[in-house]
Amino acid sequence: MRHLLSSADLDRDDVEALLDLTDSFVEVSNRAIPKVPALRGRTVATMFFEDSTRTRLSFETAAKRLSADTMSFSASSSSVNKGESLRDTALTLEAMGVDAVVVRHRSSGAPHRVASWVDVRVVNGGDGWHDHPTQGLLDAYTLRGRLGPLDGRRVAIVGDVKHSRVARADVAILTTLGAEVTLVAPPTLLPPSIEGWPATAVHDLDAVLPEVDAVVLLRMQRERMTEALVPSLREYTARWGLTVDRARRLRDDVVFMHPGPMNRGVEIAPEVADDPRAVIVDQVRNGVAVRMAVLFRLLAGEGPEPVADVVSDGADDRSVAADLSEQPVGAGDGGAT
Ligand code: CP
Repeated sequence: MRHLLSSADLDRDDVEALLDLTDSFVEVSNRAIPKVPALRGRTVATMFFEDSTRTRLSFETAAKRLSADTMSFSASSSSVNKGESLRDTALTLEAMGVDAVVVRHRSSGAPHRVASWVDVRVVNGGDGWHDHPTQGLLDAYTLRGRLGPLDGRRVAIVGDVKHSRVARADVAILTTLGAEVTLVAPPTLLPPSIEGWPATAVHDLDAVLPEVDAVVLLRMQRERMTEALVPSLREYTARWGLTVDRARRLRDDVVFMHPGPMNRGVEIAPEVADDPRAVIVDQVRNGVAVRMAVLFRLLAGEGPEPVADVVSDGADDRSVAADLSEQPVGAGDGGAT
């Protein structure tokens, strides 16, 4: 794996390998010192042209837990404000010696363009409406943790599908793992290209909910809306929100998800967001371990032997999990943080 640009680039074996690797990094994250020297000497830059809390901080935390150095670029406080282009910005970070960049941009395809300009690993941290592959991976990991294998599991993705890169990533990755996805939205919030998606699209949330194993609520992306696409937020909530009344009618084992940031009281009731069936905090927690797995896979080699070399400091005949469990960062390891 040279880059992680699109969810569609991952086949079932790729996704399952990354989720299995994530198990190892969850174990690392649960240690008293949640750190391994796997990426010592490497530098990971976050290159964000759009706001973020979860994605940016979790990539930076993931890199630090792998002992990589980190650089944090935010367009809002950079020379982009003086007119510097995306290409020149990427070339500038490359010249400083970064090994990987995580790119978030309002334009679909921006991470692909960066990958064509620089000789460093590129991860898509969310591009326009197009994709958010690590969100798809962390959602799949979180769901698999609650439901087991996703083959035949029914997932409803509800809300502003039209503007949602999370919806596109989740559809790609969850269906790759065998889940059956139903998109539920008002007609104005479904994309025109929905026919090509491996999912069904409906408008009636109450007809779908009794059938599902999981519900993914999407944020109403008001910053991307150029016209009034719903009559009012009150009506949207009444017809497509996961209200207390709707949640009360769902089984005890149905999983509620939201990628964040939430509009509490719009797509999800405040009480429902804090319901025991909601895994929204787990999604954030798992996001760090998933991103450790992605950075590790991109920067520490592709096959088991190179990976073992990198994480084990010479013990090349053991599994990745075994190496990680025995390699906390401690005195004498020279870890760069
Ligand atoms: N889910 C997600 O991408 O959140 P941020 O915008 O806070 O990164």
